[in-house]
Amino acid sequence: MIINQHTELFGVVGYPVNHSLSPTMQNAAFSESGLNAVYLAFETRDIGGCLKGMKALGIRGMSVTIPHKSAVIPLLDEVDGLAKRIGAVNTIINDEGRLIGYNTDAPAALKALEESTEVSGKTCLIIGAGGAARAIGFILRERGVHLTIANRTAARGEDLANSLGCAYVPLKELEVVETDLLVQTTPVGMYPKDEQCIISPGALKERTVVMDIIYNPFETRLLRIATARGCLTINGLGMFIHQGAEQFRLWTGLKPPIAAITRAVEMALTSAK
Ligand code: ATR
Repeated sequence: MIINQHTELFGVVGYPVNHSLSPTMQNAAFSESGLNAVYLAFETRDIGGCLKGMKALGIRGMSVTIPHKSAVIPLLDEVDGLAKRIGAVNTIINDEGRLIGYNTDAPAALKALEESTEVSGKTCLIIGAGGAARAIGFILRERGVHLTIANRTAARGEDLANSLGCAYVPLKELEVVETDLLVQTTPVGMYPKDEQCIISPGALKERTVVMDIIYNPFETRLLRIATARGCLTINGLGMFIHQGAEQFRLWTGLKPPIAAITRAVEMALTSAK
């Protein structure tokens, strides 16, 4: 790729971002699509300054990650309805100086689930009550899923359950999981602490579809246990790829090159070990 005076700049803003695979994914997408564009990681706590810089320098698009997904909302010129309802933005488009926020995490999770199973009318237990749980909870509710939130900290779990109009159970009381779908959104089981599992192995029932949004490792201990019990499992790679693919589509208007970005992300994850 030749970087020249026409190269368009994109990036991810967060703190920290040094482990982010978004630059790997988006640069693979730009390159595969023959675009003169580059995507960088910007590690900063100053989200306000970042947005001013985006406008001043004409940075075309930005991914937003921890801890800025909620804080960025009042600083934008416009926020898409779904992102507003969720209360989190993970994507900004710079439309000729107007900064517009979207949430692609939620539709990506739904897509990853729907690639494997029908969701509407089902029951779903979401483990965790952070930003990811919130995004997934809102979109599943809009799809007619009957939700329950389980969390370690009651205040946070109850708060999310109240926003979603659903039940809350304390995580430590989860002895038997009676649900059609289980979505695990906490970092428990993530590399390098990949021997951890958020629930006791005996809690799962065979008919439950289990999704873990962790993608490193591809198969978490929870998913290994679920497979051994005969459950259908969904790893976190699909959600990660789809959220980035949708960002690419929002920024460029082009069809995302899913195969190329999946290859790039899988290669980066394998070679990092
Ligand atoms: P994200 O935006 O990625 O969802 P987050 O907002 O930091 O991240 O939320 C992390 C979630 O994982 C929370 O539900 C957190 O539980 P608490 O509300 O009790 O903090 C959960 N979590 C993190 N570490 C955990 C652990 N070791 N055991 C159980 N839950 C954990």
